[in-house]
This record gives sequence, C-alpha cells and structure tokens, in this order.
Amino acid sequence: MSLPDAFLQDLISRNRIEDVVSAYVRTKQRGRTAVGLCPFHGEKTPSFTIYPETTSFYCFGCGAGGDVITFIKKIENLSYIDAVRFLADRAGMKMPEDKADDATSRLRVKILEINRSAARFYHNILYTSEGRVGLEYYYSRGYTDRTIKHFGLGYAPDGFALLNEMRKMGYKDEELAAAFLIKKSSRSGGYYDIFRRRIIIPIIDIRGNVIAFGGRVLDGSKPKYINSSDTLVFKKTNGLFALNFAKSSKKESLILCEGYMDVIALHQAGFDNAVAALGTSFTEEHARLISRYAREVIQVFDADAAGKKGAQRAISLLRKTGVQIRVVTLPDNKDPEEFIRIYGPERFKLLIERSVNDVEYQLIELGLKHSLNTTDGRISYLREATKILSQLSSPIERDVYASKLSDELSVSKQAILDQVMRYKKTDTKQRKKRELSHAVRNSEEVVRKVNPEAGEHLRAARAEEELLGLLILHPDYIDIICENLEPDSIVTRFNRGLYQCIVERHRQGKMTELSFLAADYHDDEMSYVSRMVQNARETVHTPEHVLELASVIKSEHRLKVLRNPEQIEDDKIKEVLDVLRAKKT
Ligand code: UTP
Ligand code: MN
Repeated sequence: MSLPDAFLQDLISRNRIEDVVSAYVRTKQRGRTAVGLCPFHGEKTPSFTIYPETTSFYCFGCGAGGDVITFIKKIENLSYIDAVRFLADRAGMKMPEDKADDATSRLRVKILEINRSAARFYHNILYTSEGRVGLEYYYSRGYTDRTIKHFGLGYAPDGFALLNEMRKMGYKDEELAAAFLIKKSSRSGGYYDIFRRRIIIPIIDIRGNVIAFGGRVLDGSKPKYINSSDTLVFKKTNGLFALNFAKSSKKESLILCEGYMDVIALHQAGFDNAVAALGTSFTEEHARLISRYAREVIQVFDADAAGKKGAQRAISLLRKTGVQIRVVTLPDNKDPEEFIRIYGPERFKLLIERSVNDVEYQLIELGLKHSLNTTDGRISYLREATKILSQLSSPIERDVYASKLSDELSVSKQAILDQVMRYKKTDTKQRKKRELSHAVRNSEEVVRKVNPEAGEHLRAARAEEELLGLLILHPDYIDIICENLEPDSIVTRFNRGLYQCIVERHRQGKMTELSFLAADYHDDEMSYVSRMVQNARETVHTPEHVLELASVIKSEHRLKVLRNPEQIEDDKIKEVLDVLRAKKT
C-alpha cells in the first residue's frame, strides 16, 4: 500500500505536528522544539519532544517516536491508512482514489455497519413479545422509554436470534464473528450468538459509531455482564461509556462512576456529564481521555470496599494528568443509581456540591482507619497523612492542609511541613530514578524487538544507527554514501533494509524523511528509527565523519564474514528467496 509522495507532502504540511499533538498534549515551547508530558507512558517530568522542523516527535522517557502519522496511529489506535484518513479529514483533504481501501479498513467499516444493525435489532425487539422481558426489566429499574431510546438500549433473546437476522441481511458469519457478536462452538463447530437473554447496552464512540456492546443478565446469575472483546473498532481500555453524550454537556466537569447502569440513571436524572469505564478497571488511557474533555472530574463510586479501591486507583491515575478531582461519598452503601431512585436528583446535586477534593477524601478515608484517641494512632495517622500531602505540587495547598492537620492534632505546623518535604524529596528522587530506568529499559526493549542482531554486532549497529539517522536528517549525504557503501555491507538485517529503502527512494527522487517511511514501518520500528534521528540531531557531523561511519560498517562486515562465512551465505539465500516470494504474491 503506497500513497503518492505529493499527497503525503501536502498532508504533512497541512497537519502541522505541533497543532495535531496539542489536541492531546499540553506543550510548552522550548527553543525550536516543544515539550510536554508523554501521552504514551506515565511521567511527571516532560520528556515528550516535538520537532516541527522534521515534523516528528520523540519521547526521551519511553523511546516512542515517529512522524505525525505515527502519532495519530498510536494515540487514536488506528491503522496506518486510517491515521492518514484521519489527518486528511482534519485538513479537509480528499484521499487519493482506490488506494485507500485495503482489506482491514473495509472490514472495519463492515463491522461498524454490522454493529449498527445489531443495535437496531436488539432495540426494536423490546417492543415485541420476544423482548417484552427486557423492556419490563428496564421499567423495573425506573428507566423511561425516552431513556431507552436515547441510549439505544435493547434486549438479546435466546437462541440464534441475531445470527439468523443478520444472515438474512446478508452478513457473513466471519464478519459477525469479527464484530464479536457470534462465536464458533468448539463442540459442534457451528456459530452461536454471544449475547443471549441479556439486556443490551450499545457502546457508542464520540463519532456516533456503535463500537461494542455490554450485556447484563436479568437475574442474579453469573457472569453479570458480558462485554465485547477488543475488535478492529474497539479497544476496551480506552473507551468511556456515554462520552458521546457527556462531551456535549454544558457542564464543565465530568462525573465518573463505576457502571453502565449508574451512568444511564444519572443521565436520566439530568446529569448528562456522567461517564464510566467499560467493563474494566480504570486505566491510564481513561485518565488521559478524561483530561482531554474536562478540567474537573467528580468521582462517584459505589460505597463498598471495591468502590473505594477503585476510587483510590482513579485518583492516582487522574492526578498525573493534572485534572482537578472531587469525590462524592454515597451514604449507606448505596450506588449512585439507587441513591437517585430513592432520594431524587436534588439530593444528588447537594452531594456533588458538598463533595470534597481528592486530598480531603484521602484524609477522611485515612481517619476512618486510625484511632486518633491514642498517641500511636495519631502518629501513624500523621505519617500517612504527610505522605498524602507530599503528593501535592502546590506549596499553598500543602500549607493549607498542614494548618488543618496541625489544628486537629495539636502538632506544630512546621513539624508537619518538614515531614512532608522529606517525603517529597525521597519521592522525587525515587520517581526520577524509576523514570530513568524505565526509559532505558524501554528503548533497549524496542531495539531488541526491532533489530535483534544489534546485540551481537554492537559496534556495527551503533555506526549503522548513527549513519542512518544522519542520512534521514541530512539527505544531502545520501549521494556520497551511496558511492561508498553497498547495502550488502550493512551488518544487521533491519538496518540493511532501512538503508536499501532510503537509497532506493532517493534514487527515484522520492522523499526520505521520517514521514515518508511511516507507511512501511510499524510503531516500534518507527520508534527505533526516530531514536537514530534523535541521536543524529545531537552529533556534530561533517562529510569526513559520515564517511568514517561507512568505513567502520564495512570493516565490521568483513569481520563478520571472516568469522562466519556460512551464515552470511544463508542470509543472502534467504533474502533472495524472500524477494522471489514477494514477487509471486
Ligand atoms: P456493577 O456490578 O456495579 O454493575 O459493576 P452495574 O452496572 O452497576 O449494575 P447494577 O446496578 O448492579 O445492576 C460495575 C461495572 O463493572 C463492569 C460493568 O462495566 C459494570 O457496569 N462489570 C461488572 C463487568 O464488566 N462484568 C461483570 O461481571 C460485572
Ligand atoms: Mn453498580
């Protein structure tokens, strides 16, 4: 699959990387680059760097890197061609004809169509005798017809109801299976409906596509929910239920709760900014997603032990994104839906108004665990409390809470602040150490995966990486190097391929910048190549130095041949075979 260079060039110039990235990452200008917190791994010190001049990005923390298309691929979880389409849409450009439709994106479109039809089927059946039980169930939980319609709720009957219906509509079994609606029986080998005798909650993304389903039993049987597994159009860990509605709410915040049922009840009661994770616990991706849509999030989790654990987890993940957090505590072990059903929306609104911020919440929870009447209890409470305060970045906030603690426990405020600062220091040190070792591990892992031979041929790989980085950054060297270095002399396989690709493109008068390589390389490979470019940015380069690199590579290659003459033969034979095979298909 290849798109014309002219189109790509246009696409890249109309989607300035700094603008595209700024929709996902808050960045600060630093000279000719911009930096921010990496959206691909958790960090507190910004190491994600954007280079407008080369329209690329690189994260010093996790080693992720690439061009603007790679960025969209990764952050929106799209294939290469869909990422290109995404950027084309963004810039109001038309995709070049027919090249655009590869098999995967056709299947993706098909799955979306199937999901929409299935959702309609599940919904319509509610108003027939077959689906009556589902409708009754919704009514029993206080949902109105309007709510049922708004969310497109439905019911999946027993047997092969959906399968039969969808076959009638002309969909193929394999397509339905790819949408996670039917499954092959391991016993009979025939297909059957995945959702049976369950109420159905369609999951709709922010573009209005039905991307997945959740199905709840009507009674107390297990499992309570079945949720779609990941498909071409759905990734469980980064979707939020009802974000499609919540994003256009007039309210400034998002309400985060635990379950589908809570969200639906809240929307019905007028809280149209409620969302929930989808059948998984709250993840880093959820936190980032929330921070893109709101400055403040109000957590309303169940009051049981699981809910409290979830609340703490969400707090620590959300904090990293910088959103403000408030926490509602529900009385008497109620979940939000029950609370509203019993006490009504007004009382719920009061709960929100009286909600505490994350630190206050954590201090209250801590207080419940310690007895403040004994000296020991107070000391251990204070120890934990100062740890919580040490996570606050604002000195004013630290001061306010230190005063409060000091009053409550009659301990000097200075002693509390001293302790807080002590924790803060060790915390920062440990975090920096952790981030650094994480970074090193990550980029080593990428190299190991992408270019496993680099480990055995360190000296060669290092020279190759530097040379290739320089060639991508400064294409004017390509001519000199071409004359001096045969592709066959490149020692490691991945780098040999990259070199061939660069030389070939150059010969054909095509562009060789990162963005033009993105079509042929997957994300990890792009990260590896980006690292080469990054290192090349930091080296002083002269034609002599570049030629020197070429001669290091050549001598390493000779050594390899001397050491292991058969292996190189095998390599060559395999390459020839690969080429022949590729030509056949
Ligand atoms: P809950 O058990 O609180 O479910 O799980 P709920 O949606 O509030 O339903 P009711 O009110 O008890 O009827 C919260 C969320 O956890 C996921 C679902 O996303 C659910 O909405 N979950 C729970 C599952 O994915 N599978 C399960 O078996 C249970
Ligand atoms: Mn619940």
